[in-house]
Amino acid sequence: MKILVVGSGGREHALVWKILESKRVSKVYCAPGNGGTAEIAQNIPISVGQIDDLARFAHKESVDLTVVGPELPLTQGMVDHFQKHGLGIIGPSAAAARLEGSKIFAKEFMQRHAIPTGPYLQTDSYPEARDAARSGRFGYPLVIKADGLAAGKGVVIARSLQEAEVALEQIMQERTLGEAGKKVILEKFLHGEEVSFLVFSDGTHALPMVPSQDHKTVFDGDLGPNTGGMGAYSTDWILSPGVTQQVMETIVTPTLRGMAAEGNPYRGILYFGLMLNGNDVKVLEFNARFGDPETQPVLYRLQSDIMEVFEGMLEQRLDRVKLQWRQGCSLCVVMASGGYPGDFEKGQEITGIPEAEALTGVKVFHAGTEFKNGHLLSSGGRVLGVTSRAETLSSAIRLAYQAAERIRFRNMHYRRDIGKKGLKKEKIMAK
Ligand code: GLY
Repeated sequence: MKILVVGSGGREHALVWKILESKRVSKVYCAPGNGGTAEIAQNIPISVGQIDDLARFAHKESVDLTVVGPELPLTQGMVDHFQKHGLGIIGPSAAAARLEGSKIFAKEFMQRHAIPTGPYLQTDSYPEARDAARSGRFGYPLVIKADGLAAGKGVVIARSLQEAEVALEQIMQERTLGEAGKKVILEKFLHGEEVSFLVFSDGTHALPMVPSQDHKTVFDGDLGPNTGGMGAYSTDWILSPGVTQQVMETIVTPTLRGMAAEGNPYRGILYFGLMLNGNDVKVLEFNARFGDPETQPVLYRLQSDIMEVFEGMLEQRLDRVKLQWRQGCSLCVVMASGGYPGDFEKGQEITGIPEAEALTGVKVFHAGTEFKNGHLLSSGGRVLGVTSRAETLSSAIRLAYQAAERIRFRNMHYRRDIGKKGLKKEKIMAK
């Protein structure tokens, strides 16, 4: 089979790498790809927004299946377009991708189907939003979300009324996020532990992946501004079997049933951003795709042939597909460019990846990298995802950081505490 992966991040490098493990696959293209995908597949210089060009390419090269990484083309109807032209593709329709594309659609959907989520107000009126912030009805910190896609910048956690007023002014009046900020959601801040719970869905059946936890802020101790994700780890005990069953029964199944009942069956990868507080689980957000960087540690634990899963999704028989996962833990430490998540440097030469990968149980996934004149250079904010696999979380942490220390590029930075929060739980589980 010939496969096209759309995207250019660490998630897409991990996908290309995993797809290439399959004996059914003879060729993988990645559009536009990065330095890592260039080493193992063929990069195609078409950007993710050029849906027509991607479809023409898939047609011309007789691509059997396209796998879409990022949300933007999904919300713009890439899957609908490919299907109209008889091209095989994994991902939700534009109507189904609204679960990520519109935070208001997602909240209203959850209300319609009694899916647990926090209380909120939605509005397109700046005075109404400001008055609600002033009334303190949701308390502080207050979560403010732009309705539309905002490249990871659409959520503000305002710790005070002053911060809330600044955020609302910027989003709704100055339109710093463009049309995405035309409407907003004000939402109660939920306390607890965030968990990323992803499923493969064929519209009726959901096949869960192993759970994972992201680290969103740039600095250790969950401090500093939010990023796309500075690291993630995966291990089974992030969710107990009982809570996993509860999530499947009260969240995943009603979501798939609700989408199907509303005429928009969800076929693709569905990411449930959950907040866990004891046995109470609520949905913070949906994403219509694999997470980044969660995909890197999650796929590093997947033993099964991912093409079998994709075929099961296309043929709507996921109930007959069984997934095999490696026991133990996996962890990904993101190495970022100087300045990220603000303006960042590019073009820095990267060394040490072969030395890092010489360690057993280490795989370095590229994100913002490119080859120029035979040199590997940084080309994005998040540059590499150093990913490890080990029996315990503590050994996965040690291994990933040992590998990261072998890698160099000027002004690189990375968090030193990825997975640390899980260590306490690991000790409890070991008892
Ligand atoms: N890591 C969060 C996301 O992929 O949206």
